[in-house]
Amino acid sequence: MISEKMLEALNEQVNKEFYSAYLYLAMSAYCNTIGLPGFSNWMRQQYEEENLHVTKLYDYILGQGGDVHLKQITEPPQKYGSPVEIFEQTLEHEQFVTRCIHKLMGQAVDEQDYATQALLQWYVTEQVEEESNVNDILAPLHMVGDDKGGLMMIDQQLAQRVPPTPLAPGQ
Ligand code: FEO
Repeated sequence: MISEKMLEALNEQVNKEFYSAYLYLAMSAYCNTIGLPGFSNWMRQQYEEENLHVTKLYDYILGQGGDVHLKQITEPPQKYGSPVEIFEQTLEHEQFVTRCIHKLMGQAVDEQDYATQALLQWYVTEQVEEESNVNDILAPLHMVGDDKGGLMMIDQQLAQRVPPTPLAPGQ
């Protein structure tokens, strides 16, 4: 049994995950226009990842007999500055999402909603990975600074990122 308050909060999170997808797709386009196809690819795969985050919540809400309420998605910026600034903004955004997930978990604990806690535990773990992945890219980016050769090498590495594996039903 899930409360209306919890359903409303999960629907809010659906919107935030949609915004994340939107943000990374906008970053992907921006990276492409500034001549960084590898960065663009990484952001494109991150967009796909966020879509998985959306559908997992969506499926859970429906599975609980709740109403999905799709809300308007905020327009993301069109420009993001230098490569290091792009990933600093990415880290900042992921830290924001982590705080949102933790707040939801707090609510699920307060409501003794064990099913939603089990769902949110997946997101808690996922956020640790999300932040870690971004930090792993930020470290070499800070190291190379404005060195074009170094940036090109990072771009080639980011070109290797493959699409995320779709989640199996109930996963
Ligand atoms: Fe869905 Fe990147 O958090």
